Amino acid sequence: MNFQWYPGHMTKAKRQMQEDIKLIDLVIELVDARIPLSSRNPDIDELGKNKYRLILMNKADLADKERTREWSAFFKEKGFFVVSLDARSKSGMKNITDIVMEACKEKIERDRKRGIKNRPVRAMVVGIPNVGKSTFINSYAGKACAKTGNKPGVTKGKQWIRLNKSVELLDTPGILWPKFEDPEVGFCLAVTGAIKEDVYDRETAVELLLERLMHIYPEDLRVKYAIDFSEAEPVREVMSKIAVARGCLKAGGVLDIDKVIQLVLRDFRTGRLGRFTLD
Ligand code: G4P
Repeated sequence: MNFQWYPGHMTKAKRQMQEDIKLIDLVIELVDARIPLSSRNPDIDELGKNKYRLILMNKADLADKERTREWSAFFKEKGFFVVSLDARSKSGMKNITDIVMEACKEKIERDRKRGIKNRPVRAMVVGIPNVGKSTFINSYAGKACAKTGNKPGVTKGKQWIRLNKSVELLDTPGILWPKFEDPEVGFCLAVTGAIKEDVYDRETAVELLLERLMHIYPEDLRVKYAIDFSEAEPVREVMSKIAVARGCLKAGGVLDIDKVIQLVLRDFRTGRLGRFTLD
């Protein structure tokens, strides 16, 4: 897929992140569990190379459970701490602090040996747009939004959210830019809703998505739309079958393919169609 994309903000965001990252111990990186590679920007590995690293496989409620397990193992193998979660759910936040402490235990131990007590771990949240950074910060910080900084007597500058005596979080997340150059990555970002709809062709995106689902998750498609198809069938025929099955019709009984496109994208993004992993 081709994208009309003007990465105007990218340099600014990157510069900001280079500054912010100096202030922290731990990078909490959100990826989309449905596309754990396509939703990463590998620049973060260079930017955060001397930091402790935690990857949150977010939107795990929408992803294929088995694949999420496989991807978690893949990232762990590479040395990351990994948690899969639904950032909207407060209950998923319970063990995050324990994992943050575990990821930073070397630093905590070093502080202890130097006689430094109760110096909180400082962390920042990073990720591409729409991956769930704000949702995570809200769920994790909850009511503990006692901000430090910018108070009388406190140096003007960054705002920190003090979560508890052990962890402080930078209150503004770092925005990573997705890597569009690879058309496969672009496709994954488009169908999951990570990028705005005005920079790609929705019809092509939905055709590619249906072709993919026809091969890797055919039963979900068959059951959800109550249609039958063979995996070799042209995707436009499958779209017509969905139109008929779901009553996507224009005046005179003409099939309304625009409506099918909207329907499929919505059903895919909300998980109504099933739990899928594309990477
Ligand atoms: P951002 O700060 O990284 O840009 O993302 P944000 O928190 O704004 O989340 C983007 C959308 O993703 C929100 O949907 C949010 O509710 C949803 N979201 C975040 N985490 C999860 C998760 O773990 N599971 C699911 N299913 N959804 C999640 P929204 O408010 O409806 O926005 P939009 O989708 O209409 O843009």
